[in-house]
Amino acid sequence: QKKQFLNQLIQRMTLEEKIGQLNLLTSDMDVTGPFMKPGYKKDIEAGLCGSIFNAYTPQYTRQLQEMAMKTRLKIPLLFGYDVIHGHKTIFPIPLGEACTWDMALLEKSARIAAQEASADGLHWTYSPMVDIARDPRWGRVAEGVGEDTWYGVQVAKAKVKGYQGTDLSAKDAVLACVKHFALYGAIEAGRDYNTVDMSRRRMFQDYLPPYKAAIDAGVATVMTSFNEIDGIPATGNKWLLTDLLRKQWGFKGFVVTDYTSITEMINHGVVKDEHDAGALALNAGVDMDMQAGIYASQLKTLVQEKKVTVQQINDAVYHVLAAKYDLGLFKDPYRNCDTALARQVIMSPAHLQAAREIAQRSIVLLKNEAQLLPLKKQGTIALIGPLANSQRDMIGNWSAAGDGSKAVSLLQGIKNKAGNNVRVLYAQGAHYTSDTGLLKKALQKARLDAQDTANSAQLLAEAVTLAQQADVVVMALGESQGMTGEAASRSNISIPENQQQLLKAIRATGKPVVLVLSNGRPLTLEWEDANVPAILETWFLGTEAGNAIADVLFGDYNPSGKITMTFPRNTGQIPIYYAHRTTGRPLNPDNKYTSKYLDVSNEPLYPFGYGLSYTTFSYGAVQLSKQQISAAAPLQVSVAVSNTGNYDGEEVVQLYIRDKVGSVTRPVKELKGFKKIMLKKGENTTVTFTITVDDLKFYDKDMNWKYEPGDFTVFVGPNSRDAKGTDFTLN
Ligand code: IFM
Repeated sequence: QKKQFLNQLIQRMTLEEKIGQLNLLTSDMDVTGPFMKPGYKKDIEAGLCGSIFNAYTPQYTRQLQEMAMKTRLKIPLLFGYDVIHGHKTIFPIPLGEACTWDMALLEKSARIAAQEASADGLHWTYSPMVDIARDPRWGRVAEGVGEDTWYGVQVAKAKVKGYQGTDLSAKDAVLACVKHFALYGAIEAGRDYNTVDMSRRRMFQDYLPPYKAAIDAGVATVMTSFNEIDGIPATGNKWLLTDLLRKQWGFKGFVVTDYTSITEMINHGVVKDEHDAGALALNAGVDMDMQAGIYASQLKTLVQEKKVTVQQINDAVYHVLAAKYDLGLFKDPYRNCDTALARQVIMSPAHLQAAREIAQRSIVLLKNEAQLLPLKKQGTIALIGPLANSQRDMIGNWSAAGDGSKAVSLLQGIKNKAGNNVRVLYAQGAHYTSDTGLLKKALQKARLDAQDTANSAQLLAEAVTLAQQADVVVMALGESQGMTGEAASRSNISIPENQQQLLKAIRATGKPVVLVLSNGRPLTLEWEDANVPAILETWFLGTEAGNAIADVLFGDYNPSGKITMTFPRNTGQIPIYYAHRTTGRPLNPDNKYTSKYLDVSNEPLYPFGYGLSYTTFSYGAVQLSKQQISAAAPLQVSVAVSNTGNYDGEEVVQLYIRDKVGSVTRPVKELKGFKKIMLKKGENTTVTFTITVDDLKFYDKDMNWKYEPGDFTVFVGPNSRDAKGTDFTLN
């Protein structure tokens, strides 16, 4: 019935109307790229624009939908938006949320985001971003879940399920959009919009699986990436969009470009003008043109010149209309325009509670010398730093519809929690950075306001005086939200120098210091790790940030987060990630001619999977049900875990595998499983995993996905560095 309805509709459409369905334009409510085309309302009225992004609220989307309903064929508009980590209730940035290692929670935040977005007029989110990223200079690492392929696969599945639910026609479901297809996380030198070059093996083994997992989970749409793949930009890459995505992977939804990426193919140097760019994109398999207006301006003549066919256009239109049909928009174009529902759903107490719980679980304790944390609810606490009293920063980058003024700052969170026995003092202490150029770019301001330019020496002196009156100092340092995210790459990923100076000055007072970091990427923290007794990584935690951080600072929640991206010691170590291959000359400190640096160790500061708790866990030896695995007989791997400290706590028990000899080189370790457990103090348990031969598969020398007989090591432990191993064989 769907097919018949859509095919009949397509038959009634003029070529212009068809092209209109492939044209996605931004409204002026929000702009998320370098170019805004005025007059989008006229295009809607003329039936020349089938979808709008950056427009929301039931009132506004109704107004635009009414225009579409007055067109000849009354084809409803589709409304898309970047609902990346929550819509109005903002959850932690994805790189932070990933530290929960809790797929049910990740699905839950996507479900809530879908409920709020759909109640606010939207049908389609540009999420999840599943780009594997191993270069923290890239600002967009904040939007993904880090460096690991297997972990990225689990998250991709959970997010698609959360956004789309089981039935797209349900009012609270939105179309998900997996992006940026493909390999965007591997841009050279971490500089946004840069090129990518990688081997097919690495592509298939490490970078493509999360996109594939989203397709298998039924994701409705795919967004192309800005980068090239094997010399051809993704948006014009037929191998990628047709051979792989549609034919090999069986994708049935529609493909949209990222912003003006069709036009950008001229800059890439693969087409000479917009005309050829349009032909390349459609012939490659792009269905919808976001914002470039190239399909609108070029497709008609391209048909006349026989450079593209009407059938290709019909196919693309079908893909787009099918999504509208699945959402039920032909039955009820106003299905998401209910103002009463919006009032009831958006930022409901239950959503805020979920945001607080997820934020607590995203926090990673990086260091806690002499159990400085948790803080006692008594005495004087000095809260110092540019991120201490900020609401806007707490919701982070890509919190598009989020309202910073509704977020809980750290200062407020501490005050909410501390009670009458605690005196809380506050000082800004420093600006985000003394590099005004960086700040202007990050904040996208032509001029900086008074808060950004107040006298630095005076700020520092005030902070030192304040610290001297305190029993403990909490320093809120890191990056402003604008220093990460899209178009926010940094070549130096330390805490900005002026903030470091502040930290050193406060440290010199001799007061105990807890460093609370807000940031959207791994930072280089060698000095901090060596000199500050306690460090909490809090990312940008969303609307409930301040409350969640205070919950952890005072021990009402015992931190359980573990990082999903390696923290390097310095920028020169990048790219650094745990699942690397070995070299022919592995590190031997006593032999000059082995693989190492002269000036820094090969080891990161904090390895993938790392994170502490207020309690301690001890691990027994790894036990196997037998020494061999076969297709018929999986292997049970068990380890005893005990809570040996003074608090109840959660632990993420991680399982890694190493294939010792392969027909191609294999990573030193690969994550293949984890279990998050709760143990009361003094309690112990046995954690058991099952490994099957499927966990041992990889792309062999002929690019076949298979396992090879041989020897393996399985490691179980608290992180990728400290997991202990034992061997088994596959005959
Ligand atoms: O979804 C985003 C994408 O990630 C970056 N460019 C703009 C798009 C739409 O806002």
